Amino acid sequence: MTDVKAYRSYRGLPTLAGLATIGDAAKPGLSVEACVARLKRYHYAFMRLHEILTARITAEPIYELKTGFSHHAYLCAEHVAALRQRIGEMREPPLGLEEVPHPALQVFFDEILAAPTTEALLLGMYEKALPALDAALEQHLRDTNPLTDAPSIRVIRFARMEIDDMLEFGREAVGCLVDETQYAKYREWLGYLDGLLAMSGAIDGVARTLNEEKPARRFSIKPYVYDRVPRRDERFQDVWNQGVNAESFLYNPDLPAKPKTLMMLYKRLREIDVPEMMASIIAETKGKPWDYYRDMSRQLWDEARHAMMGEVGFVALGVDWTKARITVNWSHRLNTECTPIERHAVLYFIEQGLMTKTGKRYEWEVGVESGIPLIATIQDYDWADEVLHAQLGRLWYIPVIGEWKKALEYGDQCWTRILSNWQEVKDKGLTQHANWWPAIYTQACAAWNETPGAAALAFAETYEGARADLKGVTGSA
Ligand SMILES: [Fe+2]
Ligand SMILES: [Fe+2]
Repeated sequence: MTDVKAYRSYRGLPTLAGLATIGDAAKPGLSVEACVARLKRYHYAFMRLHEILTARITAEPIYELKTGFSHHAYLCAEHVAALRQRIGEMREPPLGLEEVPHPALQVFFDEILAAPTTEALLLGMYEKALPALDAALEQHLRDTNPLTDAPSIRVIRFARMEIDDMLEFGREAVGCLVDETQYAKYREWLGYLDGLLAMSGAIDGVARTLNEEKPARRFSIKPYVYDRVPRRDERFQDVWNQGVNAESFLYNPDLPAKPKTLMMLYKRLREIDVPEMMASIIAETKGKPWDYYRDMSRQLWDEARHAMMGEVGFVALGVDWTKARITVNWSHRLNTECTPIERHAVLYFIEQGLMTKTGKRYEWEVGVESGIPLIATIQDYDWADEVLHAQLGRLWYIPVIGEWKKALEYGDQCWTRILSNWQEVKDKGLTQHANWWPAIYTQACAAWNETPGAAALAFAETYEGARADLKGVTGSA
């Protein structure tokens, strides 16, 4: 009789396809039922994290957090999708996935969603929720059978890798933004979050007690309301400024490619308004299949990346981008004047326009022509992303309206309804539409060691003369 210890693989080769030793795999581990019960709770946690991160993108003023939340929301959406698929493989039809596993766990996430400040949100998210989820996943790896449950283990290992990145970001963000006084202010609340976790038997529910007392609410005592008004940090000045018509410069055949790269970088950075707007669509559109949220979150994240490409480009070219005026007009108006489906229609309408000859291909060609390799790279990937976004629009937007032509017309109509507010914001004293272009262009020329071209430097076209219905004006998205 061979016992586990005496057993040898052929010529000492790794056992069990490299998964584990025979000894580790000879322990029973979790039953399918117990495993699924835990997976459903990880799924719930990732779903709530995705919800919280998405909901807090728009009104979060700090750009680095806005883009960070966009990234992390997307990662969570992917892990939700992976867990749903795995649960569906385990004799469980993917049903009951929207159920709340425990009322205290629900309150735990509701509290973080309703955190009244950025500091509280960071602490709740990165010091409580994500570490608790990670601890549960780590425990799963210890408890389950490495051979029988190998597919779950694979999903969990991927998830933990990205949770690790998120925690790293969170630790640094807390270090930069939360001082001792702020921390002290929330210490009690953080302890209360620990209490909620204990009450629900932690994220995995394994340590569930029989204590069925109703969890008390603090910040979430009034149900959270998504804030759809976009906010920016203080580097974003004069946010109603529509004083430089970037498209008009970019599409002027008489102007050279090199200064055009600056207008493209401006357009990229201005795309920070797309995550602000898409977050509102996702937050306010309920009851869609998970693939919808995953795809929309992917696109949202791409748009945040496009904004960051603009940031990188400006920095690489030696330009202080804060001298440009990164308007909030587009996301503010779509979020406050349109319904979610109208916003999606406008997004699709604009992105369709980017697929034409004067769209993304042209921007890439300008990048190549400019002789600045980084700009070519940025526009190359921006173009590829936009092709994906047009596909996602066909998948998730068009079927809601009907067929393609009708859907496009509807997008056109919705966009036409947003009349130019150029005069209005000026009359209200919100902006003088100052021309920021020479300041940006001369900085770049100084870094290039070049004299500014007369025609490029003299450019002073605003959005004032643009069609009142703004059609074709903003190349956002
Ligand atoms: Fe984009
Ligand atoms: Fe896009």
